[in-house]
Amino acid sequence: MSLVTLREILKDTRKKKYAVPAFNFNGYEDAQGMVNSAVKMGSPVILMASMGAVRYIGLKQTAGMIRGMAESVDIPICLHLDHATDMTLLKEAVIAGFTSVMIDASKEPYEENIRITKEAAEYAGRYGCSVEAELGRIGGREEQIAVDDAQSALTDPGKAGEFAAETGVDALAVAIGTAHGFYKSTPKLDFPRLEKIVSLTECPLVLHGGTGVPEEDFVRCVEMGMSKINVGTEFKAAYTSALRDSVTGNEISEVDPRNYMKYVKTMCQEIAEKKMVLFNSAGKA
Ligand code: 13P
Repeated sequence: MSLVTLREILKDTRKKKYAVPAFNFNGYEDAQGMVNSAVKMGSPVILMASMGAVRYIGLKQTAGMIRGMAESVDIPICLHLDHATDMTLLKEAVIAGFTSVMIDASKEPYEENIRITKEAAEYAGRYGCSVEAELGRIGGREEQIAVDDAQSALTDPGKAGEFAAETGVDALAVAIGTAHGFYKSTPKLDFPRLEKIVSLTECPLVLHGGTGVPEEDFVRCVEMGMSKINVGTEFKAAYTSALRDSVTGNEISEVDPRNYMKYVKTMCQEIAEKKMVLFNSAGKA
């Protein structure tokens, strides 16, 4: 089927108590593994490209490749630009056929975050493309964005509803104690804060920094009303370790790249399937 928007893919999540898995991909093999997992598990899936991934693969190449994957299966797939800090690239992604974009102006003061987010939402809205924004500041490193402990800030529940209404976004990334990248110690999620945010806004909520979050915390977030959960670093690590293993495991005479790269596909598929069970999205396509 055709690519679907973020608004469409998230619309039943809170009511039916599941979160749509959102996975960062960096090439063909990991993306195809993620799509294969969605087909096998009957789960909707959001494929996310960072600005770095888009610049590496090419914008039109990214859009064309994922559109082709979506049209080859009967599972809802959304193509999302993750953490855009460059409005020009965001607008180009909308034109290229992304069905969702995230504008990340979370480092700006509240009013400025609203202004920039509104600009993105108004532009994307003209093309029927969804928008995600971030309120509060999620810690850790996500490609071009590095946020240390002192700069990170949890989402103010009192502002979440107002921010969502003012900007008209389709999903809101909240900071409740997770961080991007590998954790140095087990993250402590602020569940009372999440409960307040859920009670104060109907806007679908997004959990970033999924790599390394304890399984029981994922389950609790989903039960409480989280709609989208992002996982990136775990796939990067799986991609590179599958490659390393296949290079050392193959004879030097093996020259067909597919006999190396295919392990990336299966490794990413396995990880994605487990997340679909944890996020309760299996069978929801
Ligand atoms: P991780 O890389 O920590 O899984 O986070 C991914 C993410 O939130 C992308 O926006």
